[in-house]
Amino acid sequence: MKTRRLCKSGPELSEIGLGAWAIGGAWRWGWGKTDDNESVRTIHRAIDLGINWIDTAAVYGYGHSEKVVGKALKGKRAQIIVATKCGLVWKKKTKGPNDLSPQSIRSEVEDSLRRLQTDFIDLYQFHWPDPKVPVEDSWAEMNKLQEEGKVRWLGVSNFDVPLLKRCEAIRHVDSLQPPYNMLNRSIEKEILPYCLENEIGVIAYSPMASGILTGKFDMAKVTADDWRQKSPEFREPAFSQKLALVEKLRPIAAKYGKTVGQLAIAWVLNNRAVTSAIVGARRVEQVEENISGSGWNIEREDLETIGDLLDGWYSS
Ligand SMILES: NC(=O)c1ccc[n+]([C@@H]2O[C@H](COP(=O)([O-])OP(=O)(O)OC[C@H]3O[C@@H](n4cnc5c(N)ncnc54)[C@H](OP(=O)(O)O)[C@@H]3O)[C@@H](O)[C@H]2O)c1
Repeated sequence: MKTRRLCKSGPELSEIGLGAWAIGGAWRWGWGKTDDNESVRTIHRAIDLGINWIDTAAVYGYGHSEKVVGKALKGKRAQIIVATKCGLVWKKKTKGPNDLSPQSIRSEVEDSLRRLQTDFIDLYQFHWPDPKVPVEDSWAEMNKLQEEGKVRWLGVSNFDVPLLKRCEAIRHVDSLQPPYNMLNRSIEKEILPYCLENEIGVIAYSPMASGILTGKFDMAKVTADDWRQKSPEFREPAFSQKLALVEKLRPIAAKYGKTVGQLAIAWVLNNRAVTSAIVGARRVEQVEENISGSGWNIEREDLETIGDLLDGWYSS
């Protein structure tokens, strides 16, 4: 698979990274019961197919996703770039999980290293902002972790431009992990131009809108313990409009012999500010299909047609 460099001095990332949120299994914001053995097989298949990096987070399954990733990477650690996140702490008794205090970051990194069974994390990221702590203090602590060799590159997720600027004033931000897909283009106006200009790598999450843009999504198959059952993104009336949009995308994907999911991934990768798309999968056949979201281009006229569909989809 083709690779793209993350920021000015970052690693070469495959255009598709494997997202390990669903691999965390059942928890408050989980995807319901997941078969760990199948998760391990999915990670191995992803590596065989040329995916060279994986994105997880401490909070996914309250540590479970990191443990499964650590198990899968035994003997394969050198083949893969591991990205994980801190800042959502589930053991706290205080209100809200967000914690980017320097002492919490330090304790979280040790826990993640242990669960991942590794001496260092390639890309360590803030999961969400924490308005209670000056971001300068949090980011300075990340810089220390890098100097100590515990982590190699530093990133943030769900940050806006003002927060990115405050971090940049202390130390370069190697990557931003924002949501980006045909149904959520909110980063196009300010965030992507800022990242391009400042050489911040962009690793886009939910490129298939957490399943809606796969072209196969069936709410009836989503179990009661899956977060999508309680998400406004999956509620009417917008939900039916999203599925109607998928039907309009189907013939465009078919023209290339692709599925709607593959088209959705290729559309994200078409944006030159994007370094890689983080595509979620928890079954082997999913990763086998998703891999073909990379390696081809959508022609200009089809990009324009898709653009028109996206501009009009709310009212269609
Ligand atoms: N930083 C953040 O705040 C944040 C937030 C969200 C996501 N992320 C990262 O981004 C990754 C990807 O995002 P995402 O999981 O929301 O969404 P996604 O990649 O847009 O969609 C993934 C989901 O679609 C379904 N799917 C995948 N391949 C399929 C296929 N070939 N056919 C049919 N269905 C398929 C799977 O759900 P089923 O197994 O249920 O079918 C899968 O979990 C996450 O794993 C995580 O690493 C980060």
